Amino acid sequence: MKQDMILILDLGSKENAKIAREVRALGVYSEIHPHDITLAEVQALPNVKGIILNGGPNRVVDGVEIDVSKEIYNCELPVLMADHKGDAPWPEDDEARKQALSNFIFGGGGAEANWNMDNFIADQIELIRRQVGDKKVLLALSGGVDSSVVAALLIKAIGKQLTCVHVNHGLLRKGEPEQVIQVFRHEMDANLIYVDAVDRFLAGVADPEQKRKIIGGEFIRVFEEEAWKLEGISFLGQGTIYPDIIESGTKTVKAVKSHHNVGGLPEDLDFELVEPLKMLFKDEVRACGKALGLPDNMVYRQPFPGPGLGVRCLGAITRDRLEAVRESDAILREEFAKNGLEGKVWQYFTAIPDIKSVGVRDGKRADEWPVIIRAVNTVDAMTATVEDVPFALLQHITHRITHEVPGVNRVLYDLTPKPTGTIEWE
Ligand code: XMP
Repeated sequence: MKQDMILILDLGSKENAKIAREVRALGVYSEIHPHDITLAEVQALPNVKGIILNGGPNRVVDGVEIDVSKEIYNCELPVLMADHKGDAPWPEDDEARKQALSNFIFGGGGAEANWNMDNFIADQIELIRRQVGDKKVLLALSGGVDSSVVAALLIKAIGKQLTCVHVNHGLLRKGEPEQVIQVFRHEMDANLIYVDAVDRFLAGVADPEQKRKIIGGEFIRVFEEEAWKLEGISFLGQGTIYPDIIESGTKTVKAVKSHHNVGGLPEDLDFELVEPLKMLFKDEVRACGKALGLPDNMVYRQPFPGPGLGVRCLGAITRDRLEAVRESDAILREEFAKNGLEGKVWQYFTAIPDIKSVGVRDGKRADEWPVIIRAVNTVDAMTATVEDVPFALLQHITHRITHEVPGVNRVLYDLTPKPTGTIEWE
């Protein structure tokens, strides 16, 4: 194994992720584990050079004080109290924290600053091979950043022992299913099963939550059907990343929301999981994808909701409006890229409401749909501001959409920040 590691044990602090990032910023790989990890489990982890105990002032969860076991306190590894339990107070100021961490990691711990993507990838390949042996792995490959990076890593580690299943539910953006096939089947020579399930996803339901449920449920059924057709699968690959774990709740932190990675895979697909990205933050996942040779537009793509264009084709999904939203979105993305807004604006897309208004087409009155453009910036998606898109560009995009997308006669620009609007329209 190429990387040294600092273990952070979760004693209920909200700062675990921050300390993990601070350690990595000093060039040393770090992992966060539950407080009740046993010494044997610690010893099974590769190259651990030190343990940080981080529990906030009281180490109290749900009114109960928690601590790590005596055997951890008494083990040979250096232990740092990064809270107020130890003898020395843990510094609040960033520079002082950095110095204290650095002293511990490189002095007490004797770690080397050898955390980088190449070493991470090399170590993960070794760990994946150890875990999987000569068995087979199945992966639902949506084409999103996380599942694409896992796929690329697994292909590198175990090649044809991996089978990827890409379910085209018809709710992806223009060109995305084709790119998945091009990159993974043709360029990386992976086993890729492509399932065209478009017809199954056109549910006539208008309620947004129902739509999400149906889309998620149908995805699971299609994936399951494919999984049962295959023989000898022992593992399921998953693009779980560290923020998913935090949001799903840990032993000390309650869940923010249930974690619906890759559409929430069925529990009765009772395979052991392979989750090589589960300790990475999003920017690190992108760096990993880049180091594995994935194209920029896959690695740096803007966030895209799991139910895809389904939640942008407002109300009951119909094939014609779905095509109109896909085509108008493609024009918007093309124009943003041409005008230097790609990578600058956090999220931008179009949505189509289920209403028509009268307009003029070829000299005659015609009832057609409006397209809504949304372009927002945010740090955490909890609040968002609207991008100040140049008016001339909006006019140009309006002209293109109303002349190139069948059935659309108006374009509206959504000026609403979040709150009061949400980013998506449903
Ligand atoms: P809202 O609309 O709640 O969106 O302001 C915040 C962020 O979450 C994305 N989003 C979803 N992502 N499944 C997802 O995976 C969903 O059902 C979903 N709904 C919204 C949205 O695109 C934005 O980035």
